[in-house]
Amino acid sequence: MQRIDFRSRTRSSDGSTENADGGAPSDAARSEDFSVGVPMAQVVPRTLEVSPTVVMLDQPRSVPAEKFRRLKTRLLNDYKDTLQLLVVTSPAPREGKSLVALNLALAFSTDPGQTLLIDADLRRPTVQKRMSPAPGLGLSEVLKREAKLDHAIFRLKNAPLRVLPAGNPVQDPVELLSSDTAKSLFATLRESFERIVVDTPPIVPFTDADVLGGYSDGILLVARAGSTPRSAFTQAVSLVTSTRILGVVLNDVTFTFADYGSHYDYYNSYYQEKHEGEESGK
Ligand SMILES: Nc1ncnc2c1ncn2[C@@H]1O[C@H](COP(=O)(O)OP(=O)(O)OP(=O)(O)O)[C@@H](O)[C@H]1O
Ligand SMILES: [Mg+2]
Repeated sequence: MQRIDFRSRTRSSDGSTENADGGAPSDAARSEDFSVGVPMAQVVPRTLEVSPTVVMLDQPRSVPAEKFRRLKTRLLNDYKDTLQLLVVTSPAPREGKSLVALNLALAFSTDPGQTLLIDADLRRPTVQKRMSPAPGLGLSEVLKREAKLDHAIFRLKNAPLRVLPAGNPVQDPVELLSSDTAKSLFATLRESFERIVVDTPPIVPFTDADVLGGYSDGILLVARAGSTPRSAFTQAVSLVTSTRILGVVLNDVTFTFADYGSHYDYYNSYYQEKHEGEESGK
């Protein structure tokens, strides 16, 4: 089976990786695609954390955290005012949907109360397992009218992000997510939040993400480097029928030591310059 190959897809002709991973501004990286017309939105490296879930909080100055900030900037530049609610999905399980959704939401959340992360994976909820102080109430209870929205949303202590966890898993998520209650819930959320990021189950086995796409301004597709088969990626693209595809995030890319070295040099020099400028009062 053919696999998405980070190295062959993103190295430029001179062998450098700078353009491909967004390290330098270039149209070459933007026009990169997987032969199915999906623009590359960002490359996210493998994080070196023991628990990589919240790299934006745990390691805000790391290369992966910087990639999430760049992803945010790229999306805002490309889609400007037309991007309030976006859905994150991928072809298969365990490709990094939740990691990307959570860290992208954290990148968006600069003003308190303006950004909401929704764990709409009612099959295998992740966010509440990793972040919620009191698992229990969530999206599924709100959709079943067993809980009020205000009671289900919680705020993070260490970031200006609000979270609507999934709640208890349900038998038939698609029925709940397609209901009139869901439609009006998403309309209400649009009135309350500037930016909404929605984490979902994989799109090849389940239609949840495409249903949620119908309430959104676009779907961000995640592929896991060296793992997501190209055929599955192509299938995922064809299964997005409800909205546009914003781009692909190639996740869990492993750099060679030399690649990492050049990246860290770049960041070190940036911070040194800034530090020196600050000290001299510039
Ligand atoms: N860039 C990365 N660096 C290191 N670990 C990663 C990276 N991306 C994902 N992982 C790890 O891979 C596992 C799967 O990630 P995640 O839960 O985000 O995937 P998912 O697509 O949401 O999975 P599911 O389909 O089960 O919801 C997690 O343990 C996560 O920490
Ligand atoms: Mg997940």
